[in-house]
Amino acid sequence: MTGAGIELVETSGVFALDGGTWEVSNNIWLIGDDREVLIVDASHEAGPIVEAVGDRDVIAIVCTHAHNDHITVAPELAAHYGAPIRLHPADRPLWDSSHPGEKYAPLTDGERIVVAGVEVRVIHTAGHSPGSVCLHAPQLDSLFSGDTLFSGGPGATGRSLSDFPTIIDSIRSRLLPLPPDTVVRPGHGACTTIGAEAPHLGEWIARGY
Ligand SMILES: [Fe+2]
Repeated sequence: MTGAGIELVETSGVFALDGGTWEVSNNIWLIGDDREVLIVDASHEAGPIVEAVGDRDVIAIVCTHAHNDHITVAPELAAHYGAPIRLHPADRPLWDSSHPGEKYAPLTDGERIVVAGVEVRVIHTAGHSPGSVCLHAPQLDSLFSGDTLFSGGPGATGRSLSDFPTIIDSIRSRLLPLPPDTVVRPGHGACTTIGAEAPHLGEWIARGY
């Protein structure tokens, strides 16, 4: 790869919350070039991620939020690469329920992380969880949306520490103003664009999810 680009790794496993379990497939995004990468989410198993990274330097493992299916192997990857785990501190209770005692470096809203010459801006988008974040990479026309925005609407808000009015506020005020051709790359499933989703905000509010 010449210049910075984006790669997708998919892994599958179990999402567990509130005493329930669900089989899920997750998207792990790598942002970088031939030399260095940023890992976005650390789902289920390290092997496929390590294989995709190859011999490149890992500058950080950014977790879009701390549901177990997005952070499963974050400590394992951090130890393997000697790289920091980055997570918004509002998700501390969720983090502690998966990885008690494991350290992470707090993410800040508006923070900019540079990888392979590309700037990645942290956007705090509470709602799916209190510390959910999206990462906007304008030079790559991409938004890494975690479980905040999918093709077809907002992420789930029916379980503990989620809130529907809050996720709607986050999407309306922080995400929909982005350029319409921004590719939305979520934590599960297919990509979409800001322009494809924006017209449906009113429907989501009316249906309540
Ligand atoms: Fe989630």
